[in-house]
Amino acid sequence: MKRVSQVAGLRSAVQAFGGRVALVPTMGNLHQGHLALVKRAQEVAERVVVSVFVNPLQFDREEDLEAYPRTLEEDARLLEAEGVDLLFAPGVESIYPEGMEVHTRVEVPVVSENFCGASRPGHFVGVATIVCKLLNMVQPQVALFGRKDYQQLLVIRKMVADLALPVEIIGVPTVREADGLAMSSRNNYLDESERRRAPAIYRALLQTAERLRSGQRDFGNLEALAVKEIEEAGLKPDYFSIRRAADLGEPDEASQHLVILAAAFLGKTRLIDNLEVELPQ
Ligand code: PAF
Repeated sequence: MKRVSQVAGLRSAVQAFGGRVALVPTMGNLHQGHLALVKRAQEVAERVVVSVFVNPLQFDREEDLEAYPRTLEEDARLLEAEGVDLLFAPGVESIYPEGMEVHTRVEVPVVSENFCGASRPGHFVGVATIVCKLLNMVQPQVALFGRKDYQQLLVIRKMVADLALPVEIIGVPTVREADGLAMSSRNNYLDESERRRAPAIYRALLQTAERLRSGQRDFGNLEALAVKEIEEAGLKPDYFSIRRAADLGEPDEASQHLVILAAAFLGKTRLIDNLEVELPQ
Protein backbone atom coordinates (compact mmCIF):
# COMPACT_ATOMS: atom_id res chain seq x y z
CA MET A 1 0.00 0.00 0.00
CA LYS A 2 1.30 3.41 -0.97
CA ARG A 3 0.94 6.17 1.58
CA VAL A 4 0.80 9.91 0.79
CA SER A 5 0.08 13.03 2.78
CA GLN A 6 0.38 15.73 0.09
CA VAL A 7 -2.10 16.49 -2.68
CA ALA A 8 0.57 16.46 -5.43
CA GLY A 9 1.68 12.95 -4.42
CA LEU A 10 -1.94 11.82 -4.25
CA ARG A 11 -2.68 13.09 -7.76
CA SER A 12 0.35 11.45 -9.37
CA ALA A 13 -0.32 8.13 -7.58
CA VAL A 14 -3.96 8.10 -8.72
CA GLN A 15 -2.99 9.07 -12.28
CA ALA A 16 -0.58 6.13 -12.41
CA PHE A 17 -3.40 3.70 -11.52
CA GLY A 18 -5.64 3.69 -14.60
CA GLY A 19 -8.88 1.71 -14.35
CA ARG A 20 -11.81 2.40 -12.05
CA VAL A 21 -10.88 4.09 -8.78
CA ALA A 22 -12.97 4.03 -5.60
CA LEU A 23 -12.59 6.46 -2.70
CA VAL A 24 -13.51 5.59 0.88
CA PRO A 25 -13.34 8.80 2.93
CA THR A 26 -12.87 8.23 6.67
CA MET A 27 -11.78 10.02 9.82
CA GLY A 28 -9.71 7.02 10.84
CA ASN A 29 -9.96 4.93 14.01
CA LEU A 30 -11.12 2.21 11.67
CA HIS A 31 -13.48 -0.61 12.66
CA GLN A 32 -15.39 -3.35 10.85
CA GLY A 33 -17.86 -0.78 9.50
CA HIS A 34 -15.04 0.97 7.60
CA LEU A 35 -13.64 -2.35 6.42
CA ALA A 36 -17.07 -3.21 4.96
CA LEU A 37 -16.77 0.01 2.90
CA VAL A 38 -13.33 -1.07 1.71
CA LYS A 39 -14.56 -4.57 0.78
CA ARG A 40 -17.48 -3.15 -1.20
CA ALA A 41 -15.09 -0.67 -2.86
CA GLN A 42 -12.88 -3.56 -3.98
CA GLU A 43 -15.93 -5.18 -5.61
CA VAL A 44 -16.85 -2.11 -7.63
CA ALA A 45 -13.42 -0.73 -8.61
CA GLU A 46 -9.96 -1.90 -9.58
CA ARG A 47 -8.17 0.47 -7.21
CA VAL A 48 -9.16 1.64 -3.75
CA VAL A 49 -8.04 4.88 -2.13
CA VAL A 50 -8.84 5.43 1.56
CA SER A 51 -8.51 8.88 3.08
CA VAL A 52 -7.96 9.39 6.79
CA PHE A 53 -8.53 12.97 7.88
CA VAL A 54 -10.12 14.20 11.11
CA ASN A 55 -11.83 17.19 9.59
CA PRO A 56 -11.92 20.08 12.08
CA LEU A 57 -14.51 21.96 9.99
CA GLN A 58 -17.24 19.40 10.78
CA PHE A 59 -16.82 19.45 14.57
CA ASP A 60 -19.15 21.81 16.39
CA ARG A 61 -17.37 21.37 19.72
CA GLU A 62 -13.64 21.91 20.25
CA GLU A 63 -13.48 19.25 22.99
CA ASP A 64 -15.05 16.67 20.67
CA LEU A 65 -12.40 17.42 18.02
CA GLU A 66 -9.57 17.13 20.54
CA ALA A 67 -10.90 13.88 22.02
CA TYR A 68 -11.50 12.24 18.63
CA PRO A 69 -9.30 9.10 18.50
CA ARG A 70 -6.33 9.31 16.13
CA THR A 71 -4.86 5.88 15.41
CA LEU A 72 -3.15 6.32 12.04
CA GLU A 73 -0.50 3.60 12.38
CA GLU A 74 -3.05 0.97 13.40
CA ASP A 75 -5.41 2.20 10.63
CA ALA A 76 -2.60 1.87 8.07
CA ARG A 77 -1.93 -1.71 9.20
CA LEU A 78 -5.59 -2.67 8.82
CA LEU A 79 -5.84 -1.07 5.38
CA GLU A 80 -2.64 -2.73 4.19
CA ALA A 81 -4.00 -6.11 5.33
CA GLU A 82 -7.22 -5.44 3.38
CA GLY A 83 -5.22 -4.83 0.21
CA VAL A 84 -5.99 -1.11 -0.10
CA ASP A 85 -3.89 0.52 -2.85
CA LEU A 86 -3.41 4.01 -1.48
CA LEU A 87 -3.78 5.74 1.88
CA PHE A 88 -4.18 9.52 1.77
CA ALA A 89 -3.61 10.97 5.23
CA PRO A 90 -3.16 14.72 4.88
CA GLY A 91 -2.42 17.17 7.67
CA VAL A 92 -4.78 20.06 8.39
CA GLU A 93 -2.34 22.45 6.67
CA SER A 94 -2.66 20.57 3.35
CA ILE A 95 -6.44 20.78 3.42
CA TYR A 96 -6.91 24.26 4.89
CA PRO A 97 -3.58 25.97 4.04
CA GLU A 98 -4.88 29.46 4.76
CA GLY A 99 -7.01 28.39 7.72
CA MET A 100 -10.59 27.14 7.91
CA GLU A 101 -12.10 30.59 8.44
CA VAL A 102 -11.25 31.80 4.93
CA HIS A 103 -11.91 28.50 3.16
CA THR A 104 -14.73 28.15 0.61
CA ARG A 105 -17.69 26.23 2.04
CA VAL A 106 -20.29 23.97 0.49
CA GLU A 107 -23.78 24.29 1.91
CA VAL A 108 -26.52 21.81 1.07
CA PRO A 109 -29.86 23.32 2.11
CA VAL A 110 -33.01 21.65 3.49
CA VAL A 111 -31.77 18.07 3.94
CA SER A 112 -28.94 19.39 6.17
CA GLU A 113 -31.17 21.43 8.40
CA ASN A 114 -32.90 19.06 10.85
CA PHE A 115 -31.69 16.24 13.08
CA CYS A 116 -27.87 16.17 13.23
CA GLY A 117 -27.81 19.49 11.35
CA ALA A 118 -29.90 21.12 14.09
CA SER A 119 -28.03 19.45 16.98
CA ARG A 120 -24.60 20.15 15.52
CA PRO A 121 -24.58 23.61 13.87
CA GLY A 122 -22.19 23.79 10.91
CA HIS A 123 -21.57 20.04 10.90
CA PHE A 124 -22.91 19.31 7.43
CA VAL A 125 -21.22 22.36 5.89
CA GLY A 126 -17.99 20.83 7.18
CA VAL A 127 -18.86 17.39 5.82
CA ALA A 128 -19.99 18.65 2.40
CA THR A 129 -16.91 20.87 2.07
CA ILE A 130 -14.39 18.14 2.88
CA VAL A 131 -16.14 15.47 0.82
CA CYS A 132 -16.38 17.83 -2.18
CA LYS A 133 -12.69 18.60 -1.78
CA LEU A 134 -11.63 14.95 -1.41
CA LEU A 135 -13.68 14.03 -4.49
CA ASN A 136 -11.91 16.76 -6.46
CA MET A 137 -8.50 15.73 -5.17
CA VAL A 138 -8.85 12.01 -5.88
CA GLN A 139 -11.34 12.22 -8.78
CA PRO A 140 -12.63 8.69 -8.21
CA GLN A 141 -15.34 7.08 -10.35
CA VAL A 142 -17.11 5.90 -7.20
CA ALA A 143 -17.14 6.88 -3.51
CA LEU A 144 -18.57 4.86 -0.63
CA PHE A 145 -20.21 5.97 2.61
CA GLY A 146 -21.89 4.12 5.48
CA ARG A 147 -25.67 4.12 5.68
CA LYS A 148 -25.30 4.53 9.46
CA ASP A 149 -24.82 8.25 8.82
CA TYR A 150 -28.03 8.29 6.78
CA GLN A 151 -28.53 12.06 6.76
CA GLN A 152 -24.88 12.55 5.78
CA LEU A 153 -25.37 10.14 2.87
CA LEU A 154 -28.37 12.17 1.62
CA VAL A 155 -26.45 15.43 2.02
CA ILE A 156 -23.58 14.01 -0.05
CA ARG A 157 -25.90 12.60 -2.73
CA LYS A 158 -27.63 15.98 -3.05
CA MET A 159 -24.32 17.85 -3.24
CA VAL A 160 -23.03 15.49 -5.94
CA ALA A 161 -26.25 15.88 -7.95
CA ASP A 162 -26.48 19.68 -7.54
CA LEU A 163 -22.81 20.33 -8.36
CA ALA A 164 -22.83 17.73 -11.19
CA LEU A 165 -19.80 15.97 -9.71
CA PRO A 166 -18.91 13.02 -11.98
CA VAL A 167 -18.91 10.32 -9.31
CA GLU A 168 -21.22 7.49 -8.27
CA ILE A 169 -22.12 7.41 -4.57
CA ILE A 170 -22.72 4.04 -2.91
CA GLY A 171 -24.27 3.67 0.55
CA VAL A 172 -23.07 0.58 2.42
CA PRO A 173 -25.25 -1.14 5.09
CA THR A 174 -24.49 -0.54 8.77
CA VAL A 175 -22.30 -3.11 10.50
CA ARG A 176 -23.49 -3.99 14.03
CA GLU A 177 -22.05 -5.56 17.15
CA ALA A 178 -23.62 -8.88 18.24
CA ASP A 179 -26.11 -7.02 20.47
CA GLY A 180 -27.20 -4.71 17.65
CA LEU A 181 -25.20 -1.58 18.52
CA ALA A 182 -24.12 0.14 15.30
CA MET A 183 -20.33 0.23 14.99
CA SER A 184 -18.89 3.68 15.55
CA SER A 185 -15.61 5.17 16.72
CA ARG A 186 -17.64 6.90 19.41
CA ASN A 187 -18.52 3.54 21.01
CA ASN A 188 -14.96 3.63 22.42
CA TYR A 189 -16.03 6.49 24.69
CA LEU A 190 -18.63 4.36 26.51
CA ASP A 191 -17.87 2.95 29.94
CA GLU A 192 -19.03 -0.57 30.78
CA SER A 193 -22.47 0.37 32.07
CA GLU A 194 -23.09 2.79 29.16
CA ARG A 195 -22.02 0.13 26.68
CA ARG A 196 -24.58 -2.30 28.18
CA ARG A 197 -27.39 0.25 27.75
CA ALA A 198 -26.37 1.46 24.27
CA PRO A 199 -28.29 -1.20 22.22
CA ALA A 200 -31.55 0.39 23.48
CA ILE A 201 -31.40 2.71 20.45
CA TYR A 202 -31.42 -0.14 17.95
CA ARG A 203 -34.09 -1.99 19.96
CA ALA A 204 -36.35 1.08 19.77
CA LEU A 205 -35.72 1.30 16.01
CA LEU A 206 -36.63 -2.37 15.54
CA GLN A 207 -39.77 -2.07 17.66
CA THR A 208 -40.88 1.04 15.79
CA ALA A 209 -40.31 -0.70 12.44
CA GLU A 210 -42.40 -3.62 13.69
CA ARG A 211 -45.22 -1.29 14.76
CA LEU A 212 -45.15 0.39 11.33
CA ARG A 213 -45.26 -3.00 9.60
CA SER A 214 -48.21 -4.05 11.73
CA GLY A 215 -50.14 -1.07 10.31
CA GLN A 216 -49.68 1.64 12.94
CA ARG A 217 -49.44 5.07 11.29
CA ASP A 218 -49.69 7.59 14.12
CA PHE A 219 -46.09 8.66 13.60
CA GLY A 220 -46.09 11.16 16.49
CA ASN A 221 -47.33 8.51 18.89
CA LEU A 222 -44.79 5.93 17.67
CA GLU A 223 -41.97 8.45 18.10
CA ALA A 224 -43.11 9.37 21.62
CA LEU A 225 -43.31 5.70 22.57
CA ALA A 226 -39.75 5.06 21.33
CA VAL A 227 -38.41 8.16 23.12
CA LYS A 228 -39.94 6.81 26.34
CA GLU A 229 -38.37 3.38 25.81
CA ILE A 230 -34.94 4.93 25.16
CA GLU A 231 -35.27 7.11 28.27
CA GLU A 232 -36.28 4.11 30.36
CA ALA A 233 -33.05 2.40 29.31
CA GLY A 234 -31.14 5.33 30.83
CA LEU A 235 -30.27 7.27 27.67
CA LYS A 236 -31.12 10.87 26.85
CA PRO A 237 -32.79 10.97 23.42
CA ASP A 238 -31.77 13.83 21.13
CA TYR A 239 -34.25 13.00 18.36
CA PHE A 240 -36.28 10.04 17.19
CA SER A 241 -38.12 10.62 13.97
CA ILE A 242 -39.93 8.68 11.26
CA ARG A 243 -39.29 10.30 7.88
CA ARG A 244 -39.46 9.69 4.14
CA ALA A 245 -36.29 7.84 3.22
CA ALA A 246 -35.78 9.78 -0.03
CA ASP A 247 -35.57 13.32 1.40
CA LEU A 248 -36.28 13.18 5.16
CA GLY A 249 -39.58 14.99 4.58
CA GLU A 250 -42.64 14.27 6.76
CA PRO A 251 -44.28 11.01 5.68
CA ASP A 252 -48.01 10.49 5.23
CA GLU A 253 -50.20 7.39 5.43
CA ALA A 254 -49.29 6.42 1.86
CA SER A 255 -45.50 6.76 2.24
CA GLN A 256 -43.82 3.43 1.63
CA HIS A 257 -40.09 3.90 1.90
CA LEU A 258 -39.37 5.30 5.36
CA VAL A 259 -36.33 5.81 7.52
CA ILE A 260 -36.40 6.00 11.30
CA LEU A 261 -33.64 8.30 12.55
CA ALA A 262 -32.38 8.26 16.12
CA ALA A 263 -29.77 10.05 18.20
CA ALA A 264 -29.27 9.78 21.95
CA PHE A 265 -26.75 10.70 24.61
CA LEU A 266 -25.14 8.21 26.95
CA GLY A 267 -23.33 10.47 29.36
CA LYS A 268 -21.35 12.82 27.12
CA THR A 269 -21.33 10.44 24.16
CA ARG A 270 -23.84 11.07 21.39
CA LEU A 271 -24.73 8.00 19.35
CA ILE A 272 -26.78 7.91 16.15
CA ASP A 273 -28.47 5.10 14.28
CA ASN A 274 -31.28 4.56 11.80
CA LEU A 275 -33.39 1.88 10.19
CA GLU A 276 -34.92 1.94 6.73
CA VAL A 277 -38.41 0.45 6.50
CA GLU A 278 -40.18 -0.63 3.32
CA LEU A 279 -43.94 -0.78 3.83
CA PRO A 280 -46.31 -2.71 1.57
CA GLN A 281 -48.74 -0.67 -0.58
O1 PAF B 1 -18.41 9.82 8.02
C1 PAF B 1 -17.27 10.28 8.24
O2 PAF B 1 -16.39 9.62 8.78
C2 PAF B 1 -16.96 11.72 7.85
O3 PAF B 1 -18.06 12.54 8.07
C3 PAF B 1 -16.43 11.86 6.42
C4 PAF B 1 -17.48 11.43 5.39
C5 PAF B 1 -15.18 11.03 6.26
C6 PAF B 1 -16.07 13.33 6.13
O4 PAF B 1 -15.10 13.80 7.00
